[in-house]
Amino acid sequence: ARLVAGLRIGTDSLSLVLLDFGGARLAELEQPMTGEALTAEALAKRIAAALETLAQRAGRAVGEISGLGVAVAGVVDAVRGLVHWSPSLTGRNVEFAQILADHLGMPAFVDNDANLVALAESLFGLARGRSDFLVVTIESGVGLGLFIGGRPYRGTRGCGAEFGHVKVELDGAPCRCGQRGCLEAYVADYALAREAAALPAGAIPGAMDDPATAVLAAARDGNRAARRILDRAGQVFAMGLANLVNLFDPSLIILAGERMPLDHLYDDPVLERMQALTTRTDRPPPEIRVHKWGDLMWARGAGAFALDEVANIALAAL
Ligand code: BGC
Ligand code: NA
Ligand code: ZN
Repeated sequence: ARLVAGLRIGTDSLSLVLLDFGGARLAELEQPMTGEALTAEALAKRIAAALETLAQRAGRAVGEISGLGVAVAGVVDAVRGLVHWSPSLTGRNVEFAQILADHLGMPAFVDNDANLVALAESLFGLARGRSDFLVVTIESGVGLGLFIGGRPYRGTRGCGAEFGHVKVELDGAPCRCGQRGCLEAYVADYALAREAAALPAGAIPGAMDDPATAVLAAARDGNRAARRILDRAGQVFAMGLANLVNLFDPSLIILAGERMPLDHLYDDPVLERMQALTTRTDRPPPEIRVHKWGDLMWARGAGAFALDEVANIALAAL
């Protein structure tokens, strides 16, 4: 029988799943990563080793795998397999799909991570049967997967749906993408860390070691400075969500994330602010659902993408 694999390249882990052509899960694997950006070649070597272990776990051979779907954060041209920018990779405009194929001896299909979460939501998640919905992912970055008319919308070259980098302030805070004033530069965990670091030492207990977590813990304990940081992040996030509603009028928005350190973003005040900033209509507001995914669910989305791409290759050869 033929197999495909799905891979999620996360900030601090690689998650893999092995599927057969019927979609059955044969094996799963999670490996820690340091969180540093790697060269595509170094990453490909890690992935090759991980695929060996994954296949072994199922008592199968890597040679049986017909293709690998890859979920990676960043601006991805899914058509050409090109990664324009990713927090996981050094360099720009990396021919990632080709480099992976060369190292792994199988076709590789690369897409934006949030796009593949949306694919997973549509196939086996909260968006089954929905044709127009949005999935906003919140972790180290802010991502978006957009389904329009029952299909993932990626833009002309696959570089669209980069919600984390819509601009919310002119000449604003530096973003990890290299620009300024992006939404995620006010909302993501590294934004909280930056705000905490700008406060006088000791203003937020424990902020030296793990600033984002410390801000959340301090806010829960009633620390004013920490609450102000979260409040601002929540306001910017609400503004971004309202922009999405105004643009797309979706019936469903899923807020998804793996570790969800940013639980405050789903609090009622944020959703109320979003409502207040949304252009008024006589329609009910979109349904908002929170989905705490594990890493392996992102990998399953990548596996589903691989199944689709492998089928497309077969169809093109008819
Ligand atoms: C990236 C997106 C990605 C998101 C979540 C953002 O920084 O630009 O492409 O989807 O993080 O990983
Ligand atoms: Na996206
Ligand atoms: Zn940015």
